[in-house]
Amino acid sequence: MTNNSEKAETMDNIVSLAKRRGFVFPGSDIYGGLKGTWDLGPLGVALNNRIKSEWWKMFVDGREDMYGLDSSILMNEKVWEASGHTGAGFADPLIEDMKTGERFRADHLLKDNGIEAEGLSAAEMDVLITDNALKSPAGNQLSKVKDFNLMFETQVGAEGKYKSYLRPETAQGIFVNFKNVVDTMSPKLPFGIAQIGKAFRNEIAPREWLFRVREFEQMEIEYFVQEENWESEYEKMLVDLRAWHRHLGLSDDNIREYEVPENDLAHYSKRTIDFEYNFPGKGFDELAGFAYRTDHDLKSHEEASGVKMRYTPVEGAPFIPHVLEPSFGIGRALTAVLCEAYTEDEMGGDVRTYLKLPNHLAPYRVAVSPLLKNKPQLVEKARSVFTTLKAEFGNVAWDDNGNVGKRYRRQDEIGTPYCIVIDFETLGEEDESLKDTVTVRDRDTGKQQRVAIAELTAYLK
Ligand code: GAP
Repeated sequence: MTNNSEKAETMDNIVSLAKRRGFVFPGSDIYGGLKGTWDLGPLGVALNNRIKSEWWKMFVDGREDMYGLDSSILMNEKVWEASGHTGAGFADPLIEDMKTGERFRADHLLKDNGIEAEGLSAAEMDVLITDNALKSPAGNQLSKVKDFNLMFETQVGAEGKYKSYLRPETAQGIFVNFKNVVDTMSPKLPFGIAQIGKAFRNEIAPREWLFRVREFEQMEIEYFVQEENWESEYEKMLVDLRAWHRHLGLSDDNIREYEVPENDLAHYSKRTIDFEYNFPGKGFDELAGFAYRTDHDLKSHEEASGVKMRYTPVEGAPFIPHVLEPSFGIGRALTAVLCEAYTEDEMGGDVRTYLKLPNHLAPYRVAVSPLLKNKPQLVEKARSVFTTLKAEFGNVAWDDNGNVGKRYRRQDEIGTPYCIVIDFETLGEEDESLKDTVTVRDRDTGKQQRVAIAELTAYLK
């Protein structure tokens, strides 16, 4: 890839491949969609689940200091008052086209006009917009900038007496369960609580496919530490976060660590490093965040609920621990994985597109095919290989559509690392020594190898 328009075209190609091959569909598609929502198709959910299970393996099952949690999306509204989310800290600057009623983010509008607005208040943005005589993209007069809270509000129960919100981050479910986990698991500090789940934000301008949406999934950890150790623990966790991004197959060249300037930190953070990915056509932008949240949340919940949110050390008085928070958006991880894997090359004189996914993330580990689908002996043998591998691995595809060349192209496009073909040699009709061997084709090189059926499971492992 050499220039920006080629990179933008690459992103368009990825989005179109994702729809065509069953990774990602627009939400509510048959009704014209619902902005900021996307549905995962059969292959998308497979990839998404793999990202989640690899993350859980690395950060929860693979460690002794991490505890899992699955808390409710709906929580008492007091949670969001205590955390600060009902206030201005969780609002975006909204501005409206006075003629069309279209709404935008004022900071984005300023940025699109070459004016940096990071960390500015609504009033400060107003001044900049007036001073620079900015108009809406349609050339119309603009409203005043106002703070727009991003939480989706809802009523609980038939009487509508209680207000609640769809959680805008999974983190608060962890904080409100801090005491439950400490009381039941007796963890030793430092320790973390990890959670994967949906989060919702009423984004003013959802955009760029899965990048900024209104309903998404997060994988979050609250890692509790002693205040005096936060910096050394932060450094240790950084090493693990780098390892995670490599495990996703993302190359170091496409990952950048961005130290968020003080005036742009979230309302709860003293230090944040964003892991940014170099998205084609967009450039580096946030993939995941790593914040030092101090004792802001536990302290706020203790004050608001009257329940002590303390850790009792072996010696000394109970205290409120400080917290480090790695937070990952799965949609952005999935996008980065697809962008990194998307490859075009030439094979057999044709341009081919394939997803060079790491084997541990590919939706299918392997596809099994009979060379011809109208030869019962080939189909029978292929079904038997398929059944054995399916029982062993689960994510095995049966593919007998079109000719073998077409099957290879299709499996390449969805990132299947290996294709197995059962042919006449497998039946031993031409050469007895090849009986019960199959062709295994490698996705990346296109090279084929004969492997004995009895060795296939070990070979694929
Ligand atoms: N608990 C901390 C927290 O939620 P955040 O930076 O607001 O921090 C964390 O979000 C991650 O969640 C982001 O790095 C991003 O990957 C993802 N994310 C946030 N808002 C998103 C949105 N509207 N659409 C898709 N992903 C989003």
